[in-house]
Amino acid sequence: MTSSWEQFEELIKAEMRKIYSEIAIDHSMNPRNLGDMENADGFAKVMGSCGDTMEIWLKVRNGNIAQATFMTDGCGTSIASGSMVTELAKGKSIAKVQRIMQQDVLNALGGLPEESVHCALLAADTLKAAIKDYLTYKNEPWKRAYRRKE
Ligand code: FES
Repeated sequence: MTSSWEQFEELIKAEMRKIYSEIAIDHSMNPRNLGDMENADGFAKVMGSCGDTMEIWLKVRNGNIAQATFMTDGCGTSIASGSMVTELAKGKSIAKVQRIMQQDVLNALGGLPEESVHCALLAADTLKAAIKDYLTYKNEPWKRAYRRKE
């Protein structure tokens, strides 16, 4: 027997399925790699065209992304995009991760409605900025202590 809460949840999901793919709904409701990271090797916070922000932290080992996490104050689609972009990055070389684009996030999520495609761009842009941050401080990590705080 299903509870009225479960029925309500199913009703919401049925409505969401009319707009979003099953993958996008899953990554939005069960985001992977959510949270900040201590002693990250790369970090970026980027504001999207909508005014929402995303943060991405990276741990790099032997030239590969060992760990990637994210936070966002954006919409459900930005949560799905942050979740997916960090999944796409994990285990890949820096060179490969630099080539992850908005379209890759969209493809992996099974597409997004036109009004939400900028959320995937925010995720891809934040990942790129975090890689840039890693590369900037790679050889002189002590300089992180002197960088401007927000
Ligand atoms: Fe701002 Fe999705 S990130 S609307």
